[in-house]
Amino acid sequence: MKYIILHNGHIKIYKRENSKYWQMRIKAPRRKAIRESTGCKILKDAKSIATNRYNTLTFEKKYVSINKESQHQYNGKHLLGIKNLNKNEINYILDYAQQFIEFNNQKIKKDNILKGRSIFNVFFEDSTRTRTSFEIAAKRLGADLINVSVKDSSINKGETLLDTIITIGSLDPDLLIIRHPEYGVSEMISNTINASVINAGDGSHEHPTQALLDALTIKNKIGKFKDLKIAICGDILHSRVARSNIYILKKLGAKINLVGPRTLIPEDINKLGVSVYYDMKNGLKDCDIVMMLRIQKERILGIHIPSEKDYFIEYGLDFQKLKYAKKNALVMHPGPMNRGVEIDSKVADDVTRSLIQSQVSMGVAIRMACLKILIDNKDIN
Ligand code: NCD
Repeated sequence: MKYIILHNGHIKIYKRENSKYWQMRIKAPRRKAIRESTGCKILKDAKSIATNRYNTLTFEKKYVSINKESQHQYNGKHLLGIKNLNKNEINYILDYAQQFIEFNNQKIKKDNILKGRSIFNVFFEDSTRTRTSFEIAAKRLGADLINVSVKDSSINKGETLLDTIITIGSLDPDLLIIRHPEYGVSEMISNTINASVINAGDGSHEHPTQALLDALTIKNKIGKFKDLKIAICGDILHSRVARSNIYILKKLGAKINLVGPRTLIPEDINKLGVSVYYDMKNGLKDCDIVMMLRIQKERILGIHIPSEKDYFIEYGLDFQKLKYAKKNALVMHPGPMNRGVEIDSKVADDVTRSLIQSQVSMGVAIRMACLKILIDNKDIN
């Protein structure tokens, strides 16, 4: 008997031995069981019936790889950055996360699809929101989440890092979530260890789940990326969020303006196919979304800005500067915010314009999707 299981086991399409027909069994998310025989001669028909019924569902290759012709697949065992993902892979993860948005609106937010799986949050840098977001995501799927906080104070950093990873590796983890102040550390760990690895931020390099959750927020609010004009403003130089977002939003079809002081924008950044502006008035013109970035005080080694007050006057987003963008332009910020430095509280807290709260809840859905997809892929590989 051949079968594929969709949507965490809620929909099954299967074919008995010697039967010409595919059959479909649907168990709706709220445990209401619907059974039906589709009589479909080919899997494609069965698939379209299933997706029509639940249009947010995506197909998951789980037991049998019948699903070869699927347009949207991510087969990777790790998620280290957005740069090397293609549009189909990105869309697959976004579609997959959609089911968890609904799931997270339920009163009881608990499933067991990752029951008994061990996930480690290994943070070599301070973090509250990303660490908590991964923790909630893992727990909602039934996994065991272990928080390891390693403030990197040792002189011999290399040895500390390796020791920590070897120790965690001997505990047979399924997935490690790594945050580290240096470029490429999660990739190095992914080459050392058997578990799946998610890069939760490596220095100023990449932060892929943040970019995915930002894309999911835009997708659910606006419904498209093509022809959207998005301004990413502030400390581009030190921002992994900016880099991952440039990659993802461009791959999905948006146009990007980068806006900030010369000292905080890398000189060669226009190689990535973005437009660069050094003032908010020109940079925000015709933009649908204004994405503000935190001034990364911990990474600013020289003096890049005159004073926080002056920075706010030139680049801080208040309602006056927001008027330079399109009439109903929306505002985003990955958090944590420096209120009164890069963003005015009135703008940040205006729920008619600000998507900041939505970004936080989309973060949990995206991380649930990433955990499930990567652990499934690790099992298959
Ligand atoms: C971002 C990060 O750490 O890169 N924050 C986050 O993931 N919650 C952005 C930032 O720190 O400014």
